[in-house]
Amino acid sequence: WPFFAPYVKAINELKKVRNAVILAHNYQTPEIYNCVADVVGDSFQLAREATKTDAEVIIQGGVHFMAETSKILNPDKTVLIPDARAGCSLATSITAADVRELRRRHPGVPVAVYVNTTAEVKAEADICLTSGNAVAVVESLGVPEVMVLPDQYLAAWIATQTKVKIITWNGACEVHERFTAEELRAYREADPDVTILAHPECPPEVIAEADFTGSTAKLADYVKFRSPKKVVLITECSMADNIMTSAPNTEFVKPCNLCPHMKRITLPKILESLVHMREEIVVDPVIAERARMSVERMVNLKI
Ligand code: 13P
Ligand code: SF4
Repeated sequence: WPFFAPYVKAINELKKVRNAVILAHNYQTPEIYNCVADVVGDSFQLAREATKTDAEVIIQGGVHFMAETSKILNPDKTVLIPDARAGCSLATSITAADVRELRRRHPGVPVAVYVNTTAEVKAEADICLTSGNAVAVVESLGVPEVMVLPDQYLAAWIATQTKVKIITWNGACEVHERFTAEELRAYREADPDVTILAHPECPPEVIAEADFTGSTAKLADYVKFRSPKKVVLITECSMADNIMTSAPNTEFVKPCNLCPHMKRITLPKILESLVHMREEIVVDPVIAERARMSVERMVNLKI
């Protein structure tokens, strides 16, 4: 912590000078989450908050698609990402051309794309969804069949929660696909009273072993409001570190699958970003306009 203090002080001072806010995802490191973030949350909460801020500058504590989503929703603001290389295996798994081809193969079937996609892919969609609102978004369309792209595992989980038929793609999150059902069974055998919470980007056989599945915000709420005696969070490492103080009586078992992209964002890079006002997110205005329709349709749903 002493190493972080000068960065925290400098960032918080410069934020005021620049009229900037930091939106930080739940997978950001605790020093970002606790000491410099103005808003923390899951992908949906960050997208919603991005529509509400009066600040002139948004610094995205998260990966590139999140910063792009903030820019799409705030075309007149400056959106910065402290490291433009912070990608996502889901966002790179599908292109706009792939979506057009899927539409050709499934005429008339609406396309819902995960927020973990590029602006070009969002521009091809009818609506966006996140793990926090996926089932409600799919059902809001009022049709028997929906394409949910590109995460095959999120799509498989949605299919277990609704009667709507789901068509998907072969994308996967490189962090969550590494968890195994065997690993979860071992946690339960070690302590039958343990509560296992899993993110819906995990494979179906992993989710089948969990007690509850939900977005990072829903997992955080579960821990905060139900204070399980002992919990295993089947998601990215920083989650447990960030929510620990909300449940002082809960013991956390911490399987550690790091997202290398999320971890590219550090305090020194956030400071640099504020000093030099970079890396600025630029989205082609025609793409941004079409992508905005998909994102706003999701944000404006009364769900
Ligand atoms: P949520 O925070 O929306 O659950 O998403 C998890 C994730 O992997 C974001 O990259
Ligand atoms: Fe992408 Fe998975 Fe990292 Fe989230 S955790 S940013 S889905 S690679």
